[in-house]
Amino acid sequence: MHNRQAVQLLFELSKPGRRALQCPPCDVPPAPVEELLGSDAVSSAPPPLPELAEPDVVRHYTNLSTRNMSVDTHFYPLGSCTMKYNAKRNERLAALPGLADLHPYQPESTIQGLLQLLYELQEMLAEIAGLPAVSLQPAAGAHGELTALMVAAAYFRHRGEPRRVVLAPDSAHGTNPASASMAGFAFETVRSSPDGTVDLDELRSKLDDRTAVLMITNPNTLGRFEPNIAQVAKLVHDRGALVYLDGANMNAILGVARPGDFGADMMHYNPHKTFSGPHGGGGPGAGPICVTDELAPFLPSPVVARSGDRFALDYDRPQSIGRVRSFFGNVGVLVRAYCYIRTHGPDGLRRVAEDAVLNANYLLSRVKSTIPVPHGDRCMHEFVASAERLKKDRGITAMDIAKRLLDYGFHAPTVYFPLTVREAMMIEPTETEGKETLDAFADALARIVDEAPELLHDAPHTTHVSRADEVRAARHAVLKWTRSD
Ligand SMILES: Cc1ncc(COP(=O)(O)O)c(C=O)c1O
Repeated sequence: MHNRQAVQLLFELSKPGRRALQCPPCDVPPAPVEELLGSDAVSSAPPPLPELAEPDVVRHYTNLSTRNMSVDTHFYPLGSCTMKYNAKRNERLAALPGLADLHPYQPESTIQGLLQLLYELQEMLAEIAGLPAVSLQPAAGAHGELTALMVAAAYFRHRGEPRRVVLAPDSAHGTNPASASMAGFAFETVRSSPDGTVDLDELRSKLDDRTAVLMITNPNTLGRFEPNIAQVAKLVHDRGALVYLDGANMNAILGVARPGDFGADMMHYNPHKTFSGPHGGGGPGAGPICVTDELAPFLPSPVVARSGDRFALDYDRPQSIGRVRSFFGNVGVLVRAYCYIRTHGPDGLRRVAEDAVLNANYLLSRVKSTIPVPHGDRCMHEFVASAERLKKDRGITAMDIAKRLLDYGFHAPTVYFPLTVREAMMIEPTETEGKETLDAFADALARIVDEAPELLHDAPHTTHVSRADEVRAARHAVLKWTRSD
């Protein structure tokens, strides 16, 4: 016997006339609504919405929320996504009425506090990046990539240089080529050397006068700091091109190394990874970018500017690429990033990076005897194990292990990325986990690889939805509710 509120949709729970709220009788003479709004604004029938009591709605959504894993309920070592625990304090601060209740159309004189916060955030992000000019507008890391590449395109147009090619290593995130193509560039891949880092000869062979930008993720998606990053940047600069740092992995180097110092001309942050913003399913996020002084005139308009003790939105930017986002971007996410940075301070941010790297190396030392880790005995903030051998010997794939981990109460790592590692399992514990959690995860992996392959092939066995046909789900997504009776 199922609890209806847990399994049925709101439309199925609906009963005519049921309400969460009874309004008291009107104590002023009622006026016909057509008179108040105009008859063309009044619909002939009520909208087909479900009619429910408050407990029906609350139980429905609360039950739904328990079907998923989250950083508040489970260890979530999703490599590249940096699913660190989000401190509740930042949520509380971002919800303060003086921030959350502001309207973007309010006059600047009434939002001086918020503008000061955003201005200071620009300054802090610039300092952490070692790059002086900032735009807070982009709404995600990928959007930051696109925005920065549009800035680079405007810069080369201004210089009269017809550079049309963007390069990135084969270990790059798929958003890199996608952003390059959306910004109107051609994209070429730079093959990595056998140790997973940039192959300098291959890079030299790809660089020419058509090259506009090299996009590089450092530490890279294998969790390795590029040992030749200064030389990589010099090779690119000597050809008159720009270096873009995909800042998805800033958690590993916060307060330790600055992209501007190792040769980046532009970069994005993913505040939802590095500065503990919530990962909304597809948004709202933020992807602020930082650039050199030379590129600053082309940044999106407006930026937050200071004049004495007043703050304003500066629209007077004739070379700007224009707006990339409405209003000031996703301010709630930016406020959380501000609180995170202010709470930790410079020493605390460095400690975040050191602890993230320590945790990853501890977990690597425990996991590598269970599942081989091809690229290294040491790592930065994440490492990539490979189930290739297990697949060959026992028919157990990275996907089998990932799904079975859900039965053990762990969110799965990222699988099948980066593409340079077969049967990849990209594990990123982050700095927020204790040793007991890391040990329990490593123990679960060790038990899983000893289990019967048949048990793993249709795992998970304890979740609301068991193994889905992911190709079918993607190609024939059912997005509309239809009445079953
Ligand atoms: C290496 C890397 N680059 C770029 C991105 C894109 O960032 P976002 O998801 O914020 O668009 C990601 C996202 O996971 C990533 O891991």
